[in-house]
Amino acid sequence: MRAFLREQSCRSSLRSSSLNSIQGFLEGHSRGYRPQTVISVKVRQVSAGPKEGILLLREASQPSNKGGTTVFSSLYREERPFFVDNTRFKGAVQGMKEKLEALKAEALAKLQEVTDPQILNDLRVKYLGKKGELTEVLRGMGGLSAEERPVIGQVANLVRSAIEEVIGTKQEIFQQQETQNRLNAEKVDVSLPGRGLPQGGIHPLNRVIQEIEDIFIGMGYRIEEGPEVETDYYNFEALNLPKNHPARDMQDSFYLTEDLLMRTQTSPVQVRTMQAMKGETPVKIICPGKVFRRDDDDATHSFQFHQIEGLVIGRNIRMSDLKGTLLQFMKEMFGPTAGIRLRPSFFPFTEPSVEVDVSCFKCGGEGCRLCKQSGWLEILGAGMVHPNVLRMGGYDPEIYSGFAFGVGAERIAMLKYGIDDIRYFYTNDMGFVKQFKGI
Ligand code: DAH
Repeated sequence: MRAFLREQSCRSSLRSSSLNSIQGFLEGHSRGYRPQTVISVKVRQVSAGPKEGILLLREASQPSNKGGTTVFSSLYREERPFFVDNTRFKGAVQGMKEKLEALKAEALAKLQEVTDPQILNDLRVKYLGKKGELTEVLRGMGGLSAEERPVIGQVANLVRSAIEEVIGTKQEIFQQQETQNRLNAEKVDVSLPGRGLPQGGIHPLNRVIQEIEDIFIGMGYRIEEGPEVETDYYNFEALNLPKNHPARDMQDSFYLTEDLLMRTQTSPVQVRTMQAMKGETPVKIICPGKVFRRDDDDATHSFQFHQIEGLVIGRNIRMSDLKGTLLQFMKEMFGPTAGIRLRPSFFPFTEPSVEVDVSCFKCGGEGCRLCKQSGWLEILGAGMVHPNVLRMGGYDPEIYSGFAFGVGAERIAMLKYGIDDIRYFYTNDMGFVKQFKGI
């Protein structure tokens, strides 16, 4: 015989499979049926599914009237088998679990494919939002028993945190991507040229002077210097130009006093050097420096310009030494095909004196505008040192001989760089000087 429980009420009320709830339930129902108390419940089958067991009942005694006294019959016990089917409710828990798992699987699959932060946010709202699907499923928890709720609650929490974790990871990835994109967009291209530091260049005149110095240092010469304010003695007299010598007129001068002037040439360094050398040989010097003449400035004249003086004193120094030295100088200055020619000239401090021409480097001697169709360019003055000058320098002309030369730095620079006005050198026109920066 089955339990007195009506399946219907059992199904609709019994949601849990725990013994306590079964007992409570049976008591409630039996009471309505007969005044009896469930003493204990023995459930045979404790696994999931319908429960079947023995119910031990104690029935209240029935009152009866015996001779005016109410007599209660003795208590009795009754054992009844029962059957409870709560699988439907078990099914509800299971169903919720499955729903939650399905929700999780769907959410994770969709989240995995998301490539856009906006869609990610939409999915977050869709699954976890207040009106989201998880909330929707959890709403069904109201139908669960107190014992079952935490079970589903736990599953729901796991599902929520699994979804949240994926969303979190995705958000982090998007964040990193955005940062990376911003960094890429803001990237400084270090290959852009920097703001240039203006770099100076060497003035063409200084360049020519340095070049000439290098050439002569290479031939064993020393560089000498002398004063720009010079005595009449060194500037003229010691160079075999006594007072009232007509050759003084070739060099109009700036006199500071009767006896002092701005040097008109670098030649005074010849005698100064010889005196300083005190008869020692060889004397092999060049002296670059400023010189001054009372000229009106024009395209080829300047009251101040630059010369480079050369002097060699020793035994057996001959005209051929001068010629060889100057030829080498010109080849290094204007190229290996350069040739020179010497023309007789006059300088008071040399004997013989020569004017030296270099073959035109522009036309190679054919004749052009630069050399005025002559094939030659007038380049410097030179000669064998006059015996009087040697003597004034302290060298016995019977024993020693020497050669000297003087070259204008502007003249060389103008020829070399095709400059047609000497004034460009001094007016600091940036357009002019900048052209020589890389040379
Ligand atoms: N001093 C001469 C001048 O200014 C140039 C010169 C010519 C220098 C011949 C020399 C030389 O040493 O031997 O015109």
